[in-house]
Amino acid sequence: APLGDAAAGQTASVACAACHGADGNSVAPTFPKLAGQHPDYIVKQLSNFKAHTRNDPDAAIMFGMAAPLDEPTMRNLAAYFSSQQPVKGAATDPAQITKGKAIYRGGIADRNIPACASCHGPAAQGISPLFPRLAGQHSMYVVNQLKYFQSAQRANDPAMMMRSIAKDLTEADMQAVAAYLQSL
Ligand code: HEM
Ligand code: HEM
Repeated sequence: APLGDAAAGQTASVACAACHGADGNSVAPTFPKLAGQHPDYIVKQLSNFKAHTRNDPDAAIMFGMAAPLDEPTMRNLAAYFSSQQPVKGAATDPAQITKGKAIYRGGIADRNIPACASCHGPAAQGISPLFPRLAGQHSMYVVNQLKYFQSAQRANDPAMMMRSIAKDLTEADMQAVAAYLQSL
């Protein structure tokens, strides 16, 4: 899909800054960072919020934001946020991070959980267009989303890729992998 106009996107992004940060590096851990995210993924999520097909327990706030956006405006916003420099998150408990890194890179063989890196990239930078960047993302947001995939409350992932993976993750696995991702 064609890239939007980042300058027009910056103008439109004033509506998003209170929650996602002016440059897409949100501060509050329940609001996802958008800086450096793949533009097609951003457009897909905005379209899904507008259509209410991303309908997890935290999505309602975005229904209202996405409702007035047309496709060109979504592309402009995506061009702006994807071109912003992502800021690293805070590193927390080193033992958690080590455990999370092992899951991220190698999966969990005895539960048939594949390596996250196979879809999200070796450095969690994502793979355009389908697979989002996860590096630096707030751990609380990541754990919330993994729980929503597990419970199928977030049901907008193509071919149920994340739902089939999250169903076999424990809460401790989720916390560990999220601590690792935030530290990147
Ligand atoms: C999620 C964009 C305004 C709160 C998202 C996502 C995108 C996005 C692309 C999904 C991110 C991902 O999957 O990683 C925008 C844009 C905005 C805007 C372009 C302006 C037009 C806001 C505002 C708030 C907000 C003003 C707070 C009042 C949230 C929350 C989520 C979210 C809570 C997570 C929703 C969930 O878990 O389903 N936003 N946003 N956003 N945004 Fe916004
Ligand atoms: C989305 C984590 C493995 C495909 C996500 C999201 C998280 C996540 C937190 C939501 C991102 C956001 O809202 O910004 C993980 C973890 C994995 C893993 C921790 C390993 C345990 C995989 C694998 C695949 C995959 C192996 C491919 C088979 C996807 C796709 C999405 C996604 C397609 C986007 C869903 C959508 O469009 O809404 N992942 N992932 N993930 N993941 Fe994974």
